Amino acid sequence: MEFSIKQSSPDKQHSACVVLGVFEGGQLSAEAQAFDLSAELQLSRLIARGDMTGKAGSTLMLHTLTGVSAERVLLAGLGKAEEFNAKQYIDVLRASFAALGKTNCKDAALYLSGLAVKDQDEVWKINQLILIAEESVYRTDALKSKPADKPALRKILIGCAKKPGNAAQNAVISARAIANGMNLAKQLGNLPGNICTPAYLAEQAEKLAKEHKLKVTILEEKDMEKLGMHSLLSVTRGSREPAKLITLEYRGGDKKQKPVVLVGKGLTFDSGGISLKPGADMDEMKYDMCGAASVFGTMLAIAEMSLKLNVVAVIPSSENMPDGAASKPGDIVTSMAGLTIEILNTDAEGRLILCDALTYAARFEPDTVIDIATLTGACVIALGGVASGLFSNQDTLAAELIEAGAYVNDKAWHMPLWDEYQQQLDSNFADMQNIGGRAAGSVTAACFLSRFTKDYRWAHLDIAGTAWKSGKEKGSTGRPVPLLTQYLINRANEINIAAV
Ligand code: BES
Ligand code: MN
Ligand code: ZN
Repeated sequence: MEFSIKQSSPDKQHSACVVLGVFEGGQLSAEAQAFDLSAELQLSRLIARGDMTGKAGSTLMLHTLTGVSAERVLLAGLGKAEEFNAKQYIDVLRASFAALGKTNCKDAALYLSGLAVKDQDEVWKINQLILIAEESVYRTDALKSKPADKPALRKILIGCAKKPGNAAQNAVISARAIANGMNLAKQLGNLPGNICTPAYLAEQAEKLAKEHKLKVTILEEKDMEKLGMHSLLSVTRGSREPAKLITLEYRGGDKKQKPVVLVGKGLTFDSGGISLKPGADMDEMKYDMCGAASVFGTMLAIAEMSLKLNVVAVIPSSENMPDGAASKPGDIVTSMAGLTIEILNTDAEGRLILCDALTYAARFEPDTVIDIATLTGACVIALGGVASGLFSNQDTLAAELIEAGAYVNDKAWHMPLWDEYQQQLDSNFADMQNIGGRAAGSVTAACFLSRFTKDYRWAHLDIAGTAWKSGKEKGSTGRPVPLLTQYLINRANEINIAAV
């Protein structure tokens, strides 16, 4: 979709549809009021008739207003004016784009970002508008033999009462890049395991590298063998698909600047291995590469906005399958870091591939390492689909990530990494075991990773609950591309301002 932001009057805007807000009780927003005055109070009369009460989430499409430049006017109910907050603004946008999606409008002009939203600024409002617009036209039917017609809506104007400043213009650029990154993450996430294999992800990395001038390196199993990545390799033993370790390097910053390294879990299918998962909903384990997908999406987003920062992606990718060669409960492997691991449950495989990737990440001399993984069912129980679980060995980093997430409505919640939890990983036979029991499952998984990240500043995002939706709306969400990209934007600003 195309987006532009411009000072304009809704009544003079030539558009397939102008979108205006009405508060509960029929009170028109400032933009709607201006429109109404030049449209001979047609809106006021209509509201007096009681067809639009302004209830939150309601919409009314008008086709036959006279004396206005737009072909249609969409009234969007805003709910109570005193309560107009972030959630309401988001609901209004969703309802508006749902209504636009039912029409043949090829373009629309929205006059909603001028509304005062409690605790949020203009950049946030523009961000949300663009992300929700893109969300509304995303389709999951690419693999149907007859996909539905492409959505008609192609062009969005964000109408403003005042001339938009630099911050607003930049918000359009970054939100567009974030939306493209989310779309890539969703597209990869939604692909089934028979198409999206580790080799497929490696090909996508090569494609991304070619299109955006990134450096790409693919390590094969024999290379990983040489590096001593026996923990990672233990996961792929039962699979016919060769594992890959993908790295992408984006160098937008100073040569000497230490990079942020993003490590994404890329399990293209997690059957559980010999510790086989139950059959119900096992298809959803095709999403076990959503950490990797979010790293791809973030790399695309920062490349599109030419961010002045060095960022490296490290993506360990494998299947987790049972066969005669598969790892067995009780097997002990030696990780690249030299630490030995007793595999008590082959379904706790994410940490096994991540620990070697995290050790490998050190060779990029990172400023910060962030891993992103659909790591534990326990995190879904703890936080559901609202917030990703965030763990870190540095509180400042955790705070920065939480703030970035809040700014783009991609929430994360700080979870503890206290030493008291570490003993749950004690093993009689190896340096550690790969499971810590049922209690605090997402914390002990993070504790496991923390043993491999002592040499640098590190955070871990458990996105098991946020990366995809189940049920009727089943599909990848594209999270946490917004959080990651916003964090990198903030980081680049910090570094580049300090350099001036
Ligand atoms: N990929 C799963 C985590 C997962 C489970 C994500 C359900 C989303 C929904 C991970 O590899 C896994 O199987 N974790 C186990 C760990 C356990 C064996 C300690 C889990 O959470 O059950
Ligand atoms: Mn698993
Ligand atoms: Zn998994």
